[in-house]
Amino acid sequence: MKKIFKSTALAHSNLAFIKYWGKKNERLKLPANSSLSVNLSNLYTITTVEFSEKFLSDEIKINQEKEQKESLRVVKHLDLIRKKAGVNWKAKVVSQNNFPKAAGFASSASGFSALTLATTKALELNLSEKELTILARLGSGSACRSIPDGFVEWRKGKKSEDSYAYSIFPSNYWKISIFALVLKTSEKKISSSEGHRLAPTSPFFKTRLKKIDEKIFRLKKFIKERNFLSFGNLIENEALEMHAVMFTSQPSLIYWDEETIKLIKFIYTLREKGLPVYFSLDAGPNPYFISEEKYEKELLRYLKTINSIKEIIINHPGDGGKTIDNHLF
Ligand code: PMV
Repeated sequence: MKKIFKSTALAHSNLAFIKYWGKKNERLKLPANSSLSVNLSNLYTITTVEFSEKFLSDEIKINQEKEQKESLRVVKHLDLIRKKAGVNWKAKVVSQNNFPKAAGFASSASGFSALTLATTKALELNLSEKELTILARLGSGSACRSIPDGFVEWRKGKKSEDSYAYSIFPSNYWKISIFALVLKTSEKKISSSEGHRLAPTSPFFKTRLKKIDEKIFRLKKFIKERNFLSFGNLIENEALEMHAVMFTSQPSLIYWDEETIKLIKFIYTLREKGLPVYFSLDAGPNPYFISEEKYEKELLRYLKTINSIKEIIINHPGDGGKTIDNHLF
């Protein structure tokens, strides 16, 4: 009987509470600092990969499109895994995000972790979770954090083999809600890869790195204790710190727009009203609001009154990436 080398995986996107910004080694995607994140239950990618001796070239389809720039990154990642497996078969890859491409959320984390899981399974590589996170990292840094379950730490490491991610608390450990708020849907002008390169040009970059391990230590403690106020304060401060590095890079990177600032101010008003909610922001204008699940309905009511918010995607801590049975083709 003919063997079929085909597999499908699902992986969630993740939001970093302690951000990865700046690389120590660009080729190996070794980060300048360790980071800590949570998987986002409602933002995910499903990817099916099939290998065959009969295919003449790789065929990549992402969100029903054949996009050249993304396809090149995918092929590079396939090459890496093919080399590991000792095969040169070409592949068909179909990948689908459950969120609109234009939503402005980074799909590289969910995308490269799903691709890594599906490809290694299809080629019967049988890797440990640690090895999978290392491979996913080589595709896109933050992708390594989408493989383990729930709350995840990515240890920066000194070399490729010790820069990996692992779960520190399972997804059901703490009932928090993460609201992804879509303000703007256009693609960002400066990619995060370019941003990572600029990070060391900020005079604050080194200062930030000095305190980051202590910050991670404190954040883990707050999560462990489910101490939401201290947790919220810390993650908000951390997002602002990363943006301070971005603002002061040469050239400067300003990912916010007017509506982003309005929402930050809005969160202050909500807190004055007694609603414990904090924000985080990545390399784009769309903020995340984070609260405990018990305040989810109340917060949603407030957010629905803001006209600039085009879409609200409510997430809870999500599971790790996994292979599934339903193929996309
Ligand atoms: O993995 P990349 O290259 O897309 O970098 C992610 C950078 C941030 O989203 C801004 C921070 C983070 O840790 O996710």
